[in-house]
Amino acid sequence: MALKLSVVGCGYLGATHAACMSSLGFEVIGVDTDPEKIALLSKGELPFYEPGLDSLLASEIKTGRLSFTTDFSAVADADVHFICVGTPQSKDGLAADLTYVKSAVAAIAPHLKNGSLVVGKSTVPVGTAQGLREQLAKSAPHADLAWNPEFLREGFAVEDTLTPNRLVVGVANDRAEEILKEVYKPVIDLGTPWIRADLPTSELVKVAANSFLATKISFINAMAEVCEAAGGDVTVLAKAIGYDPRIGNRFLQAGIGFGGGCLPKDIRAFMARAEELGAKQALEFLREIDAINLRARQRVIDVVRAELTEDLTSYKIAVLGAAFKPDSDDVRDSPALDIAAQLQAAGASVVVHDPKAIENARKRFPNLGFAANVEECVKDADLILHLTEWREYRELNPKALASLVKKKIVIDGRNALERDKWRAAGWQFHALGRTD
Ligand code: UDX
Repeated sequence: MALKLSVVGCGYLGATHAACMSSLGFEVIGVDTDPEKIALLSKGELPFYEPGLDSLLASEIKTGRLSFTTDFSAVADADVHFICVGTPQSKDGLAADLTYVKSAVAAIAPHLKNGSLVVGKSTVPVGTAQGLREQLAKSAPHADLAWNPEFLREGFAVEDTLTPNRLVVGVANDRAEEILKEVYKPVIDLGTPWIRADLPTSELVKVAANSFLATKISFINAMAEVCEAAGGDVTVLAKAIGYDPRIGNRFLQAGIGFGGGCLPKDIRAFMARAEELGAKQALEFLREIDAINLRARQRVIDVVRAELTEDLTSYKIAVLGAAFKPDSDDVRDSPALDIAAQLQAAGASVVVHDPKAIENARKRFPNLGFAANVEECVKDADLILHLTEWREYRELNPKALASLVKKKIVIDGRNALERDKWRAAGWQFHALGRTD
């Protein structure tokens, strides 16, 4: 008989996983404590923006295989339970807050049937899975626990779940691996590499991967700082080093740095855990990665001040982009929004536009100005800041915008606009890491 699945926690990761597993033919029940989220998902509507997931969710709900509930006892029928709850940064330090993971496992434990497998997908500090497995051995000894980290990127969530570049499973025995192989058979059949690891290694794979990505971004942003000091061009430098296949050209886009719900908090939680384990020195470099990343935000503000004046109170600044990256409405730790808020705190009149993230941005910073379209945003602006590289911004017509603004000054915080085109239309064009 086909396995039945439950997905505990229906946020970004959980909603994606539930819809994708349903599309593979499994019966899936999604559980979450938030009744509003569950009401929306049950209607086939997404509580956030993710290209392609909205239509997949709607069609999977129609098949009858996928349903959502706030009632945790509904997982009783399932054989495999994916834990997809969040692990945000703690309020009082760098470490991850594991409250949701622990309560999710505790909430399903009384309902687990004989032989069922709990599979953690949330990003957790190494050692968490072993602790949960021991906890489960007491509360539901007839169940087992495995870990299966998730590498999905926002904007590519469906693609990354159904055609991932690898599947990693942390298991304590062969049976758990066999169950996971059964779940992922259609994905494995596509030729996806399968990596079996022990529990701690599987947890480490995730944070190691995110630390590496963060390091790559901060490396190129450090090079951008040196280029600015030395009169170089970081975009040419990135292209040139990227041709070496050992380096690779991806994740070398210099600019205002990384944000979002994963990279910043994951590297901080990793440092905190390493310290607990007595391996603090091994990850000291991540402190520098974090510092370089935050410095990139400050550098943009410095360029704004250099272009206008130290005192920003009489200026209108138009900010293009609020999401932490394009094709997302996520503003968690968004460098773009952080810069906008800092400029406003410094006295500037800031108006923000974003194709999808305005609603979330407004919730976070209700006092910022927001515009429904680019024209309204840039109207009478003394300076335009391009901070999230949405396609719509890359395709803007600088000639048309020139007639709307007060001063034709643009700062490209993502190195994504065509400099020559803007300059030809009479704009003063600045970009991070490019002195020319
Ligand atoms: C990341 C990982 O990529 C993913 O594997 C993991 O599962 C979750 O965390 P995500 O947070 O969706 O995914 O965003 P990602 O595409 O990695 O971008 C992170 C940040 O880095 C964004 O703010 C982006 O603008 C920035 N970035 C990315 C750069 O500044 N330069 C680059 O070259 C690439």
